[in-house]
Amino acid sequence: MQPNSRWHLMETADQVAEAACRQILAAAARALAERGRFKLVLAGGSTPEKVYRLLAKAETDWSKWHIYYGDERCLPEGHADRNSVMATQAFLAEVAIPAAQIFTISAELGPETAAERYRQTVAEALPFDMVLLGMGEDGHTASLFPGHVHPRNELAHAVYNSPKPPPERVSISAGALSDTHELIFLITGKSKQDAVRQWRQGLELPVASIAPNNPADVYIDRDAWPA
Ligand code: 6PG
Repeated sequence: MQPNSRWHLMETADQVAEAACRQILAAAARALAERGRFKLVLAGGSTPEKVYRLLAKAETDWSKWHIYYGDERCLPEGHADRNSVMATQAFLAEVAIPAAQIFTISAELGPETAAERYRQTVAEALPFDMVLLGMGEDGHTASLFPGHVHPRNELAHAVYNSPKPPPERVSISAGALSDTHELIFLITGKSKQDAVRQWRQGLELPVASIAPNNPADVYIDRDAWPA
């Protein structure tokens, strides 16, 4: 487990989302003041939706936000199961971030082509200002799954045989996801308890391979906290 992670145990998923939203907006204010823009990597799955809906109501200079995706599922554009579709419906369609500053993964082109294209996008973006990540029941994060091996120097991976449908995906690498000023994990729900326990016990899960220089912040609700 990342030795200097900061664990924030909240009673409910709503409180997790509220606290994470506050930290994201504070990080954005600092980035805008210090660097003139805010480079945010969005998490996939369902957990972040509450955060995205809160962000959609926030007051900030959206013209200076740059949006990336930690991973994407290889499905047709507009498919309801795409991470970018959820983020757009819950957040991006509601705010005035310039379209040229939203870097969607072209996952409809298939893992190899999309990963190759996204490597260039990630190379031009690093370091990120804030990375958001979820965690699966098996300790995966983004589309980095247990037992999967990827070339160490790749910034984005083509993913096959994902245990979580769909089987083909694209993921930013652990190293690139770690190259960020701040990083937040969002973990809620009883189904995550076992993976959280194993992570805290030091098992080498994919979630443990994310190692930013600064402490990661883990926002977790009571249901996900190991009994
Ligand atoms: C995906 C996500 C994945 C997700 C976890 C948690 O494409 O599925 O990137 O890493 O964050 O599986 O998913 P939930 O938030 O739905 O539990």
